[in-house]
Amino acid sequence: MAIRGAVYVNGAIRPAAQAVVPVYDHGFLYGEGVYETLRTYHRVPFLYDRHMRRLRASAGYIHLDVPYSDADLRGWIEETMQAAGDLNEAYIRILHTRGVGELTYDLKATPTPSLVIIVKPFEEPPARVFEQGIKISLVSIVRNHPASVNPIVKSNNLLNNALAMQEANRTGAEEALMCNYRGELSECSQSNFFMVRGGVVLTPKSHAGLLEGVTRAFLFEVGRDLEIEVREETLSPADLETADEAFITSTTRELTPVTRVDDRVIGQGTPGPLTMKLLERYRRRAHEMTRAGVLR
Ligand code: PDD
Repeated sequence: MAIRGAVYVNGAIRPAAQAVVPVYDHGFLYGEGVYETLRTYHRVPFLYDRHMRRLRASAGYIHLDVPYSDADLRGWIEETMQAAGDLNEAYIRILHTRGVGELTYDLKATPTPSLVIIVKPFEEPPARVFEQGIKISLVSIVRNHPASVNPIVKSNNLLNNALAMQEANRTGAEEALMCNYRGELSECSQSNFFMVRGGVVLTPKSHAGLLEGVTRAFLFEVGRDLEIEVREETLSPADLETADEAFITSTTRELTPVTRVDDRVIGQGTPGPLTMKLLERYRRRAHEMTRAGVLR
């Protein structure tokens, strides 16, 4: 596999293919760590401050120190982007793990966390995704119980998500929609879920047990801009039958229209008008903010 880009590992930047972490890193051994995925517009990481806030919050939930400032991190991202060379726009993944230590869960074994920053060219989703929408699948894998590995933690421990996506992929779907332990809709394997009903945009409540997406939060602001009501609601699989439109949100997929959930056709089977209006405004704001160097 030809791997493009550059990777920062604990202070050293290498070409991606040569970047390695020690096998005794508890991120590798136990999935003990947290991460963030960002992308740039105009080579500026979009909503940087919000991603850093979430990284610190995630680390806090697992009692992991983040012993550097947002400005330090920004500098290392910039250096890694320089080393990656010709990028156009960048995909940036920050991984912050427990670090190297003996084979034990005892925190005393890992006094120094590890930091990895992967930078590679950002690959835009194909145009057909936005023009035609995608099919997602309501999978049998249940989203982690909040009293287990709370989905609010953007954790490197992604087995729950990977299994869900793999089940969806087997049916030819491009994302997996999961229920929580109560049987309510929660979120997707790598994105948040939204549906439109009667002109109102609905998304599962934070309490449903989900990762509070940076894009999801930003979408509430975009909705206010456009005077489109966006609100949290308890949703069940039966609600899918009443959806006029649906879409998913994530940093890398922006707003991606959903036109099918398994065999159910959503609305007219084409991206809905409110979805496209929100997407257009989302992109416009992303470009304006990054052009102005806004990181908030
Ligand atoms: N995924 N829910 C889950 C489980 C996610 O993994 C993600 C993001 C989201 C959307 O979050 P945001 O809007 O902040 O990107 C929701 C990233 C893109 C990833 O896994 O790389």
